[in-house]
This record gives sequence, C-alpha cells and structure tokens, in this order.
Amino acid sequence: MFGRKKKVIGLDIGSSQTKMVELSSGKGKKLLNYGISKVLPDAIVEGEIIDREAVLDSVRSLIESKGFTTKDVVIGIAGRDVIIKRIAMDRMSEADTKEQIKWEAEQYVPFDINEVTLDFDVVNPNFGENQQEVILVAAKNELINNLTVLLRELNLNPIIVDTTAFAVQNVFEYNYSPPPDETTCLIHIGAGMTVINVVKAGSSLSARDVYYGVNAFISKLQKEVGFNYEDAANAVKGTIPVGASQDSVQGVFETFVGDLGTQIERSLQFLSSVTGEEKVSRMYLSGGGSLIPNLLDYLKRRLGVPIELLNPFKNIVYDPTIFGPEGADVVGPILAQACGLALRGE
Ligand SMILES: Nc1ncnc2c1ncn2[C@@H]1O[C@H](COP(=O)(O)OP(=O)(O)OP(=O)(O)O)[C@@H](O)[C@H]1O
Ligand SMILES: [Mg+2]
Repeated sequence: MFGRKKKVIGLDIGSSQTKMVELSSGKGKKLLNYGISKVLPDAIVEGEIIDREAVLDSVRSLIESKGFTTKDVVIGIAGRDVIIKRIAMDRMSEADTKEQIKWEAEQYVPFDINEVTLDFDVVNPNFGENQQEVILVAAKNELINNLTVLLRELNLNPIIVDTTAFAVQNVFEYNYSPPPDETTCLIHIGAGMTVINVVKAGSSLSARDVYYGVNAFISKLQKEVGFNYEDAANAVKGTIPVGASQDSVQGVFETFVGDLGTQIERSLQFLSSVTGEEKVSRMYLSGGGSLIPNLLDYLKRRLGVPIELLNPFKNIVYDPTIFGPEGADVVGPILAQACGLALRGE
C-alpha cells in the first residue's frame, strides 16, 4: 500500500537459542524488534532439527512474548547439508553458467545432485585465461523443505533462505564497508558450530563450518571440573560458582580457546594453500561464544591479528532502550546472523 513500508524478520534457529531480528525494509534500516529464546539441548544437532516440537515451541514463544506480527521471514541454514565452495570453471555467460552449474557442482557436492538446491554467484569473471570464479552453494532439498513446512506451521512466510556464513558476511559488509583490498576473517562462534569465513572485496574466499563451539567448553567444565550443566554454563559467561577452583576453570578455558585458535589457524592455512598469500588484516567475532570473557584477547595474542567484536547494529537505527540494561554490546554479537538475514529483505 502507498506509503506503507514492509518489514522483514531474520530468523536464526540455533542449537542453543532461537534469535529473531525485525528490520524495516528499504533504505536506512531500522531495528524494530528482536528476541532470543532458548531451545532445548539436543533439539538441533549439527544443523539438523531432531526435535521439531522443541524448535516450534521456541519460535512460537518468541513470537508471542515479543509480539512479532510480521510474517515475511528470511531463514538461515548451515551444517552438514549445506556446501559452500569457491570454484573455477570455464568462462561463459550468466545464462550458460546457470545451465552448466549443475554439472560442475557434481564434482564438489557429496549428495545426489538431483536432491539439492543450487545457487551461484560469479565473483570473478576473469580468472586465468578463460575461466571464471564462482561461489557455489548447495543445500539439500530435504533441509529447505523441512524448514519451510515448519515455518508455515508457525504461520510465517519464508521469503529467502541464506547460509550462516553469508548472513554474517552481509551484516559485516553493511556495517563496516571494508576497503576492497582488505582481507577480513569473520568468525561466528555458536554453541555447537563455528563458522569461519574469509572475505575480500565483497566475496567469500573460503567458508568453513567447524563442529566446535561453546558446548565443548561447557562439557569440558562438566567433565574436568565436575560442574553440573548449569554451573558450567554460568562459568562460561564468567560467573564461577562459590568455592570452585579458578585455576581449574582457567585450565579448561585455555584448552578450549587453544583448540579454537588451532581450528582458525587451520582454516587460514588451507586458504593460503589454495589462493597463495592471503594476509588477513582483521578479524571480527560474533555468536554467543564471542562473549566468553578473555576469549577475544587470547585469540588476538595467539593469532597476532587485530580482532574486534562484530556490532551488527553499527549502521542501523535503533532506540537504545530496546536492548534493556545489557545494551547492544552484549546482545549484538548474538544477533549478528539474524540481523544479516533480515538485511536481505528489500
Ligand atoms: N555472555 C556470554 N558469555 C559467554 N557465552 C555466552 C554468552 N551468551 C551466550 N553464550 C553462549 O553462547 C552460546 C549461544 O550462542 P549462539 O546463540 O550464537 O549459538 P547457537 O546459534 O544457538 O548455536 P549454533 O549456531 O552452534 O547452533 C551458548 O552456548 C551460550 O552458553
Ligand atoms: Mg548459531
């Protein structure tokens, strides 16, 4: 209707919490509403929904408690059923690439090619003598169909499906407008998964999901310090139970963050082995794990690169009271993916 702006929700169904961000569409984005709600443990494993009812409950309770009325939703996917690859193929027109991509994809996608949805983006039309570089995304139809059915059941209307890696990249580019010659590494640390995406000039050089996240820290604290789940989950946020040994928590922290550092280093080594020298000049952390006390400083020392927390609302207008006493600094990194998804709405 004339003069009426549409609104879009970015929906990030994580394995530990569901996140929703509602933005105004059109230019000059405004944050209208957001919400975070817990998902039962083990309802989602490595990107796959195991307990549908738990996930439905989590989204439904968010919609009700936060009063979301917008129906158009952009949804994020990641995990074993999603493949992102930067590939080289013969240079051809966009229309021919579209025809050809299925045959190219067969080499890279470990699933039946007839059971996946493919998407691509030509990121470098002039590669070598007569090739082009294309980012290929393949997602199992089953994953997309299951999510679509789930959203319809909630009376929501899925308008776009995007990957975690690209949602975080999207929110980064929208807010930071990085110079085209700078290589940036985006690290999104969730409960069960860490998504590492190295980006340059608006396109991804390499995106990887690592099945290692805050859950590993929590379960190590349970096993090695003897905390119950709740104490371990609090300790991860910096609240160590009275009487517990600071040193043993510190020891587990160092093992966890050391392993995470190794995973990040491996991704960067892999990248330089395929693209030659790619010096990362800065890293941005997001996801709940980015808020673990001292994690950022540890990684900064270990990797020798400037690292910051990603603020998804840097260039977005919002009423500061919307975040309550915690403020945008604490809530922002958790909402990075949901915000990046919502930014996809026109
Ligand atoms: N302030 C905080 N400090 C430390 N850890 C935190 C904080 N807030 C949340 N976390 C941890 O971050 C995790 C949740 O982060 P996030 O919402 O990004 O994960 P998720 O999307 O549910 O998981 P995944 O993407 O792996 O499926 C939880 O394990 C939680 O314990
Ligand atoms: Mg997540």
